[in-house]
Amino acid sequence: MFEQVIEAMVDAVLVLDISGRITLANTAASHITGYSLDEMRQLPIARLMVDESSGLRTVVRRRIEDGDVLRREESWLITKAGERIPVSVTGSPVHGKTGTLEGIVIVARDVRDIRKLLVDKEAEIAARTSAEDELRAAKSSIEEQLEQTRTQLLLAERRATLGTLAGGVGHELRNIAQIQVAAVDEIATAIAAGDDLRALLESVLPDLERVGEHITQHGHRLMQLARPGPDRVAPIDLNLVVRDVVAMLKGAGKLRRLQLAIDLSAEPLQVTVNRTRIEQILVNLIVNAVDAIGEAPGRISITVQPIADGKRVVCEVTDTGPGIPPDQLDKIFEPFYTTKPPESGTGLGLPVAREIVQSYGGNLVVSSELGRGTRFTFDLPR
Ligand SMILES: Nc1ncnc2c1ncn2[C@@H]1O[C@H](COP(=O)(O)OP(=O)(O)OP(=O)(O)O)[C@@H](O)[C@H]1O
Ligand SMILES: [Mg+2]
Repeated sequence: MFEQVIEAMVDAVLVLDISGRITLANTAASHITGYSLDEMRQLPIARLMVDESSGLRTVVRRRIEDGDVLRREESWLITKAGERIPVSVTGSPVHGKTGTLEGIVIVARDVRDIRKLLVDKEAEIAARTSAEDELRAAKSSIEEQLEQTRTQLLLAERRATLGTLAGGVGHELRNIAQIQVAAVDEIATAIAAGDDLRALLESVLPDLERVGEHITQHGHRLMQLARPGPDRVAPIDLNLVVRDVVAMLKGAGKLRRLQLAIDLSAEPLQVTVNRTRIEQILVNLIVNAVDAIGEAPGRISITVQPIADGKRVVCEVTDTGPGIPPDQLDKIFEPFYTTKPPESGTGLGLPVAREIVQSYGGNLVVSSELGRGTRFTFDLPR
């Protein structure tokens, strides 16, 4: 019965006497080791099992003598051909009727398949880990490149903005120079005609003074663009700015042949801004209106009013020009969009004006009707 049981087992079973010789083995043991059943009989277990640094056999013996059962110790079986086969060993004592130790039963399970599975799994894990590492490295290099591209884009955008702003300054200098040229012309004509210069100079000098201020401030602005610092702002009544700009443009002969309606608010409307920059916006809007009306008769209205809640000031510049086609209403705020000939328009007036208003926390918007006219509205916090 005992023999039949061990014969039926798929694991190698070896029964040893207390001297360590094999007294019984099953076919599975014979298969694994390559020894015949006969050859195995009386074979010392030392020939069959490796006992290297772990001293397994001694441990087996000692523990089994102590009555322990040995479970799943890793060891090696040596085949007849000398091959080492990894096994997981379980051992238990065989006791005689009187309770003395008569032998040991060893069950050795061939773990090559499991080992191979483990090795394969380890290789798979290693491959996966290295793939993950590669992926991570690739990802971080892509992220680095993205970051670099982003920085370059930001830089390019900043350069473009600086270019736009510098262009805006040039644009304003050109506008303002026209005022100076007109004033100088007027004086030269008066001198040539032998007119009384006193009255003329009295009216023209303040304009020239403002022109000088503009040129100085815009020179400053260019320097600021090269090395940005805060814009100097101060509280100022928007009514006064509008009045002065209109006077300046009149002086420059920009508003001849036009009806002009200026509707200022009765109360002072203080805004904290850089005066020159607000003048720049107004000059741009009014010159645009004049250009739009062209040679035809027309009217420009400018209003300055507090908004209902009193916290903001709104300025409107309205003309009776030809209006702007609906599909171009967005485009006019893009830098360099112009419908004017190259020598007279750069397309920077509106984008720069909007930039300025937005920098103060307001906005510049347009509404227009073809054939009827156009209105630009901007607001500033009080
Ligand atoms: N009041 C207006 N009526 C009709 N079209 C306008 C008016 N204001 C602006 N536009 C249109 O918007 C375009 C862009 O205006 P913007 O002030 O930005 O540049 P520009 O006047 O063409 O050139 P720049 O101001 O540089 O001399 C104009 O070319 C014009 O087509
Ligand atoms: Mg313009």
